[in-house]
Amino acid sequence: MNTELKNGIHWVGYVDWSVRDFHSYETKRGATYNAYLIQDEKTALIDTVKYLYTDQMLANVASHVALDSVDYVVCNHAEPDHASGVADVMNACPNATLVCNAKCLETLQSYLGGTYSDGSPWRVQVVTNGETLSLGARTLQFLFTPMVHWPESMMTYAQEDKLLFSMDAFGQHLASSERFDDEVPLDLLLEEARTYYANIVMPYSRQVIQQLEKLGGVPIEMIVPAHGVIWRSHIPAILDAYRAWAGRKTLPKVLVVFDTMWHSTEQMADAIYAGACSVDGVTVGKINVRASSLTQLADASLDTAAMAVGSATLNARMMPAMAAAMNYLTGLRPPVKYGFAFGSSGWGPGSVEELAANLDSLKWEQVAPALRCKFRPTDEELQKCFDAGVALAEKALEAK
Ligand code: FEO
Repeated sequence: MNTELKNGIHWVGYVDWSVRDFHSYETKRGATYNAYLIQDEKTALIDTVKYLYTDQMLANVASHVALDSVDYVVCNHAEPDHASGVADVMNACPNATLVCNAKCLETLQSYLGGTYSDGSPWRVQVVTNGETLSLGARTLQFLFTPMVHWPESMMTYAQEDKLLFSMDAFGQHLASSERFDDEVPLDLLLEEARTYYANIVMPYSRQVIQQLEKLGGVPIEMIVPAHGVIWRSHIPAILDAYRAWAGRKTLPKVLVVFDTMWHSTEQMADAIYAGACSVDGVTVGKINVRASSLTQLADASLDTAAMAVGSATLNARMMPAMAAAMNYLTGLRPPVKYGFAFGSSGWGPGSVEELAANLDSLKWEQVAPALRCKFRPTDEELQKCFDAGVALAEKALEAK
């Protein structure tokens, strides 16, 4: 495995081929926790890894330098997938100074206590936005990127090498023996970057746009994220993709998302799908939430203009998996503009009313009244579903 970014700069992280559930994110191709070592007159470790893999990361560091010669441990982001190893790293590298911003330090202290194993406080250098740190021939500059995607998030720019250590931004959950974007298929890489954006970054798109504008004047040879492979040959492709995703551009796409109990809601979903498919120029998808995952739903919603949401009624509520789906979408705030609710029940209201209220809170324009059937949909009700599917698709075309 080639781990060298430049002479004296190496990847020293951990590839996690086994993880499939990353705080509810379905990581079907595994993940990586990236850390990087910069050797100069001073030696700096950029980021650490999840605590479970600290020993492997330290062994990677030790293959280049003695651990007691590490001078700085830079923490760009305090989330535990990167920073839960900081306490062990500070103990293993007794001469290192932790470099981070004030919010990051506060978060690390909350998670990890902020002391060496003997109880004395970590040696810390708190940095401000734009501040630089000389390593000798190389200079690090710290660029704060609040809410991309935590309040304390920052990037580290290696000025002479033109490397942007971008933390979570531009990352992908992808286990591979390769470390660079030109060593894996680009379509696979962009697919995983898209899924990552949809599930992790999408709610913070406004902040992403602001940061992209700020980075516009920074010369970049490599974008070096904390997850996945390093961008060196396809930087325009990932920057263009981020601009599109953060710009919340939608395509003429309709998604029919549902859960069903005894197939009545499924029949309604099929009729809505058929109606949407009858409109030329629209791409239509259908997601049964119990045959899919929240991760795939988020991915599909990233550029979808219109979405019909349906559920059978269980105990006067929507089905549990559909409730989880709506909860996830409410948090992620995808750029969907139009929708309506549908579903079945036996003897009283329930799921459809809940779903319609959810759409109100999401501020999606409801292009049809909520459609509810009792036990089995009648032919007339299925025709109404078809017609609502047509109306939704026509709205999706307007969103081009
Ligand atoms: Fe990969 Fe926000 O942590």
